[in-house]
Amino acid sequence: MAGDVLDPATLAAVRAHLDAARRVCVLTGAGMSAESGIPTFRDAATGLWSTFDPAQLASEEGFRADPQRVWDWYAERRAGVRAAQPHAGHLALAAFGRRRPGVLTLVTQNVDDLHQRAGWPETIRLHGDILADRWLEPCPRGLACDPATASAGRPPRCTECGNLVRPAVVWFGETLPERALDAAERAARACDVMLVVGTSGAVWPAAGLAHVARRAGAQVAIVNPDASEIDDQAHWVLRGTAAGVLPRLLDTLGRPPS
Ligand code: OAD
Repeated sequence: MAGDVLDPATLAAVRAHLDAARRVCVLTGAGMSAESGIPTFRDAATGLWSTFDPAQLASEEGFRADPQRVWDWYAERRAGVRAAQPHAGHLALAAFGRRRPGVLTLVTQNVDDLHQRAGWPETIRLHGDILADRWLEPCPRGLACDPATASAGRPPRCTECGNLVRPAVVWFGETLPERALDAAERAARACDVMLVVGTSGAVWPAAGLAHVARRAGAQVAIVNPDASEIDDQAHWVLRGTAAGVLPRLLDTLGRPPS
């Protein structure tokens, strides 16, 4: 919140490093979208995994066991994402990137499109796109059909071979998209400052990006109201929320003095 009480010296130190940085890599997690009304996964009371079983809802085995249940759960989450709006933190990041061409690489674990809608279309998505579909199986006839051609259904299905449509997100046990992960690792190795916002740091390889950046000599700052599993990688921890802290960190950087 705007009222987060931040240590002024820490805030000033992180701002100074961001201001001087030639390359900034920002890694965001579910906490980035929390103030837009999209639930996180691991927050004790409100996180999705406190109510739902990821093995049933976020794995290929779970989908095969009950495709309709999984499809309907994602349909609800998709509706939540479509109704959500980017907040001041998403806007501050995109505006910072535009003011400093060539400086920002924004990497997200989030499957929503709030960074893109806030004005940073080049956001690297490590865990896919909840609003997109893909086929469950490779086409047995080698055809590259668009999942949009599938027959209506929950989930839709190919009228020729029966292949099911699934959300284009990375499920547990699946590998991350190679190009996205490569680009994220390159950015982590090359940055002067890594800013980690709203992630528990519990899921790898995304959490490892903070380690990569630190080992390569970057300054690492974390924005999170609570402790995370990668706090030990940080030179600074800002205990506050994404919408509250990011504008205070970024809004006046790179603006000509008034
Ligand atoms: P988690 O739910 O594990 O962690 C959310 C983090 O956000 C926690 O550390 C919270 O303290 C913090 N948080 C909560 N509200 C916040 C706010 N307003 N501002 C800033 N931080 C806040 O989410 P992730 O770390 O993103 O995987 O989880 C990683 C992956 O696990 C997700 O991408 C998802 C999930 O299973 C896939 O979808 C493949």
